[in-house]
Amino acid sequence: MSIKTIGLLTSGGDSPGMNACIRAVVRTAISKGVTVKGVKYGYQGLIDNNIGDLSSKDVSNIIQRGGTILKTSRSKEFPTKEGMQKALNNLKKAEIDAVIAIGGDGTFRGANEFSAFSGIPFIGIPGTIDNDLAGTDYTIGFDTAVNTALDAIDKIRDTADSHDRLFFIEVMGRDAGYIALYSGLAGGAEALVIPETPTDINQLIETLRCGWAREKSSKIVVVAEGDDAGGANEIAIKVKEQFSEIETRVSILGHMQRGGKPTTIDRLNATRMGYAAINALLAGKQNVMVGIVNNQVLYTPLANAVKLQPDIDNELLEMVRVLSA
Ligand code: F6P
Repeated sequence: MSIKTIGLLTSGGDSPGMNACIRAVVRTAISKGVTVKGVKYGYQGLIDNNIGDLSSKDVSNIIQRGGTILKTSRSKEFPTKEGMQKALNNLKKAEIDAVIAIGGDGTFRGANEFSAFSGIPFIGIPGTIDNDLAGTDYTIGFDTAVNTALDAIDKIRDTADSHDRLFFIEVMGRDAGYIALYSGLAGGAEALVIPETPTDINQLIETLRCGWAREKSSKIVVVAEGDDAGGANEIAIKVKEQFSEIETRVSILGHMQRGGKPTTIDRLNATRMGYAAINALLAGKQNVMVGIVNNQVLYTPLANAVKLQPDIDNELLEMVRVLSA
């Protein structure tokens, strides 16, 4: 099938570096004689016919900007039959031959279902701060989010140290503990609480008591928002119930982790993946996610990218335990 016009969209939670990726897709496509149409607000924009041409100039001066110039949403209508039919009608009207979707697991599930329904080929590019897709070492936005969290942890450590307080710092990650793991390890956290491993509050208190006994002045526990024992507020209450001597505070970092200037790593990955996505499409690849593993671009079927959750590296978890001594 010859690809003359592609649709480009961002969907789900935004992530820093999406704009760098949009720029790479648009300019690579144009260099190969392919027209790019930008779809605003992700899949919802397909349903609402929010589709317009994207030129090389439209993507100038965005490589350094967080967010997404294409806007994004989590469409409830798209997974319905009626929603998909409307989207297909609008794609046909715009003469779009294939779609490049930048997003996370929800985006790729949507792409798979819609492609089966419509026959329109998709290429996925992993853009989420959560880093929870198989088939790539890093998703676009993860490195920036970790650096934002780390900066906050360093600042909170100053005040934790001055007051001899225990801080529970909640980072994003509904189903994934990668931001917590990386920022916690790099920030010297005393303990981590993440959804991938069952949380034992008594064990956590034991670890914290050991630090207290050794008169550690600053104490930081990094909590991933989606932990089975609850968020930072709930965990702080549970700890305080049994460890009342210690003064505790909670800090929830929230959506600040989703914004900001993308780091060098995120811009490079975004650029490489955007470039590779067009080449993949023109080489006849369909319904795969572009990823970078061991510094090499590779392609994983969209269905596998969302199904196979990458394993948390247990050695990194062990390092947090050993190094917090
Ligand atoms: O995009 C991923 C993510 O940031 C998760 O870490 C978080 O749980 C979720 O999105 C929050 O989504 P929303 O901004 O829609 O509340």
